[in-house]
Amino acid sequence: MSQQQRKILVTSALPYANGPIHMGHLVEYLQTDIWVRFQKLRGHQCTYVCASDAHGTPIMLKARELGIAPEELTEKVSAEFIRDFSDFGVDFDNYYTTHSAENEAFVSQIFTTLKDAGDVYSRTIEQSYDEKEGMFLPDRFVRGTCPKCKSDDQPGDACEVCGTTNTPESLIDPVSVLSGSTPVQRESEHYFFRLGQYEQHLRQWMTDAKLDKNVVSKLDEWFDAGLHDWDISRDAPYFGFKIPGTDDKYFYVWLDAPVGYMASFKNLCDRTDGLDFDEYWKADSEAEMYHFIGKDIMYFHTLFWPAVLKGAGYRAPTSVFAHGFLTVNGQKMSKSRGTFIQARTYLDNLNPEFLRYYYAAKLGPTIEDIDLNLEDFTARVNSDLVGKLINIASRCAGFISKRFDGQLADSLPDEKLFAEFTAASEIIAQHFERREYSKAMRHIMALADQANRYIDEKKPWLMIKNEEQVAEVQLVCTQGLNMFRSLMIYLAPVIPTVAQDARSFLNETSWQWSSASTPLLAATLNKFKPLLTRVETEQVERIVEQSRESTAVAEKEQQDDIISIDDFMKVDLRIARIDNAEPVEGADKLLALSLDLGESKRQVFAGIKAAYDPQTLIGRHVVVVANLAPRKMRFGVSEGMVLASGPGGEDIYLLSPDEGAKPGMRVK
Ligand code: 2FM
Ligand code: ZN
Repeated sequence: MSQQQRKILVTSALPYANGPIHMGHLVEYLQTDIWVRFQKLRGHQCTYVCASDAHGTPIMLKARELGIAPEELTEKVSAEFIRDFSDFGVDFDNYYTTHSAENEAFVSQIFTTLKDAGDVYSRTIEQSYDEKEGMFLPDRFVRGTCPKCKSDDQPGDACEVCGTTNTPESLIDPVSVLSGSTPVQRESEHYFFRLGQYEQHLRQWMTDAKLDKNVVSKLDEWFDAGLHDWDISRDAPYFGFKIPGTDDKYFYVWLDAPVGYMASFKNLCDRTDGLDFDEYWKADSEAEMYHFIGKDIMYFHTLFWPAVLKGAGYRAPTSVFAHGFLTVNGQKMSKSRGTFIQARTYLDNLNPEFLRYYYAAKLGPTIEDIDLNLEDFTARVNSDLVGKLINIASRCAGFISKRFDGQLADSLPDEKLFAEFTAASEIIAQHFERREYSKAMRHIMALADQANRYIDEKKPWLMIKNEEQVAEVQLVCTQGLNMFRSLMIYLAPVIPTVAQDARSFLNETSWQWSSASTPLLAATLNKFKPLLTRVETEQVERIVEQSRESTAVAEKEQQDDIISIDDFMKVDLRIARIDNAEPVEGADKLLALSLDLGESKRQVFAGIKAAYDPQTLIGRHVVVVANLAPRKMRFGVSEGMVLASGPGGEDIYLLSPDEGAKPGMRVK
């Protein structure tokens, strides 16, 4: 080994264990796996760990909805993850879970260290609370009207229409997505991490880590905006680890998630000779450590995480590699278009190595998004892998096997040409090292073109017919197969199964990166079997069709959109007479209606101001949901709902009964 052996620890982001792996996730796991395989092929000691991200409110609620414990949910989902990853050739050295004893021990120890150092403190804050569900609400679990652009039904973190950063408290008419009730503000004590203390350290780290320039400019923006203290605790009920010394406070999922990298590695070290946890994690570690992540979670990995590690006395990541998002056919993945493709749906129809190659052909080291264009995918895989690469071997293997007893010649007829393949070794290696996979693939395919041109020129299929040239056919095919072999070695990180089949055909037991530079001569080959078959358009169409269908089925199961007659009968619909209607001060869209329901009178706030002059409504009969839980609003309590149709705004139409209906009559 010319280069010194490096010790490298690599991670991919830990997927939330509450939904299936899809094409978008795979960009990261395949990008990381290719890099790790490359490092191993170069002879380095590279360890790749991952885990399921098991904690947090969404997982707790999903388990509750399914009527199972969160542990059971995350174990079941993790088992599916492991199958999907393994079938895609993602070869973790350890796949663990954040809900582990190791993780609890690390996160508790880190917390205590930070607290003792004064980097963690507690203070009381006010937060949205759902009285019906008896729990504090994460920002996204509160929805309401955006205070800036007045769009309805926006989440409590950022408006999806105008992009404004909101808080649940700043929304107009906020509603809990869990119970539909109006959240109240309630006080609670939370723990905070003083991120700002680490600014200088983080600025230095940012330089040392040689982050991508787009990541650096994002960090600069964050530094300019000022680093805020980070809320690292959540109140019960929560699925996570209890904070030592408290009864009902838990670590926020985003604190224990990256600590899960340590826990997964520790779990591996504990059962692997020669792998020492401290060697990799101590403050002055010389080992390298890289986190592959998506661009959406940079804040956590480039600010919180290095700061927490520093404060707790551990080393910082050598670097963080962020990638962009995946689009399919140029657009966001879409369930209705059938482009929200789950890993399993792909695997049911196509060879995973095709996707590995396609992503590699598209991937660079930046946070630029990549597009999976399904037509281009079919064309690229067929032309590059089948048409160029495998073709080199299929054109030579038959002659060697049938006419030369599977024996390769003992020399190369065109050493100069082979030298071009060897000379490319370090250039291609550098592309892999820098995660410039698309450049590496282009270089490899250009060499494949050269190899094919050589065979085209020599035409062994004609030479074999001429007795005097038969011996040369063995040489030409030995040359062809050696060029194929070098390319297969370069591609082994990307298409490991095809590479392994090629190696078996060449009758070799192991390859290293450097093997590509030494030709295989005078060897006896095994029988050649086709290494890949073309992608058919129908297979890709089937994936899209199945994705559309499985979404439709899942949605049908999910939405309780079919209700029984009993469910319907629970809704108490009544005729009401509008006794009075008037605008509500401070509300743009509402009218306050005083309703006569025969035996009772009600006040209801209805969002119909843009459509009706209140005076014209007085005396009119309408239909009311009479047994709706009262809703406390800023202007008073709304005691029911008036039925209307139409999209909203001015385009709204009240439902009224035929003449003769009297206030209080039941509507059935
Ligand atoms: O964004 C996510 O999907 C998180 N589950 C990633 C966690 S990465 C790490 F910090 F654990
Ligand atoms: Zn808005």
